[in-house]
Parts: sequence; C-alpha cells; structure tokens
Amino acid sequence: MREKRESEIGGLLLSEDVIRERVRALGTEIGTAYSAGSFVLLGLLNGSLLFTADLLRELPPETEVVFWRVKSYRGTVSTGIPEGVEAEGGEFIGRTVLVVDDILDSGCTLSAVERRLRELGACAVDHCVLLSKQRPRLPGTPLPRWIGFEIPDRFVVGYGLDYNGRYRGLRSIRVLAEGEAIREG
Ligand code: IMP
Ligand code: MG
Repeated sequence: MREKRESEIGGLLLSEDVIRERVRALGTEIGTAYSAGSFVLLGLLNGSLLFTADLLRELPPETEVVFWRVKSYRGTVSTGIPEGVEAEGGEFIGRTVLVVDDILDSGCTLSAVERRLRELGACAVDHCVLLSKQRPRLPGTPLPRWIGFEIPDRFVVGYGLDYNGRYRGLRSIRVLAEGEAIREG
C-alpha cells in the first residue's frame, strides 16, 4: 500500500496524462528524425528509467537501447561532478547516439556524457531531456535537440526523479514540498 498519497508529496507540476501525451509526441518526432535502426538510445539511470522505457515504446521496434549509471545529486544539491561516466563503455564507434535524461539542470551530466561518447568513437550525439530547468547552464552544455517541458528552477520528484532515492515511482511530476527536504535532508 502507498504510504502517502501523491497529492501529499508536493504541488502538481505535470500530470500523468500530460506526461503521456508529450512522450508520445516526442516519440513521433524522434522516430521521424532518424531512420529506423540507425541510432542507439542511451538512457541515464536512475532518473530516466521510466522516461526511457516509455519513449522506447513509441519508437520503431528496431531501436536499440543501452543504459549508463550516472549520479551527481545528493539530496537536493548537485555535487557538480557526475560520478560513473568515465567507467562506462560500450560499442559506440561510428554510431549515432541519442542520450535520454530526466532533467537538464546545471548541464554537467550531459557535458560529461557527450565527452565520454566522443572518446568511445560515437560519430553523432544528440540529447533528449524530459525536463529543462530555466536557469543558467555551465559553459559548453550541449543544447538538447528534444525537450519535453521547460520548468521553473525548483526541485521536482516523480516519474523517475527522486529525492534521496524516494518518489521515483510517482506517476506525476511534483515540486518537492519544502518541509520534505528540511525534515529528511
Ligand atoms: P545536471 O548535471 O546538473 O544538469 O543535473 C542533471 C541530473 O541531476 C539529472 O540527471 C537528475 O538526476 C538530477 N537532478 C537535477 N535536478 C533535479 C530535480 O529537480 N529533481 C531530481 N533530480 C534532479
Ligand atoms: Mg540523472
């Protein structure tokens, strides 16, 4: 049983229906932009778990998917250093890679992932983020080719996004209630 109802976690930002419609539209656009089977999706765990899974189901059946595990947040604060990227590898020589992440914040994650993919021989790297926070980015941050939603610079949870490992399974995206971060942080 759910310990708390979704509505108790924080204010609703994006409902399940709104997210579903947008992911469908992104899938259609992405499926049209590349020829089937010509690119590989690279999902960044843990945050893009649900987004990548839902997007994949909107793409041609030939679409390959791989995952890297990258982490840069502790609580509601970015460490500015994505951990895990340098250790990740795979067969990317000459490939077109579409990086899928949950949210673009400072930009350090996408920059580090793109740098690593180039080292591994990827010939083209595009980025698709579900959310983009309206805030300044680090210099050199890649501009995502696809953005689901522009959102205010607030800490959000749900649909894969967590606060200290919690709330990833919410079907909607919510602004973390300030009391939650203060009580648990
Ligand atoms: P960046 O590297 O600063 O752009 O941050 C990107 C990563 O930080 C994302 O992949 C998320 O995992 C995490 N992140 C940034 N903002 C939030 C948020 O509001 N809620 C949950 N995770 C976040
Ligand atoms: Mg992440």
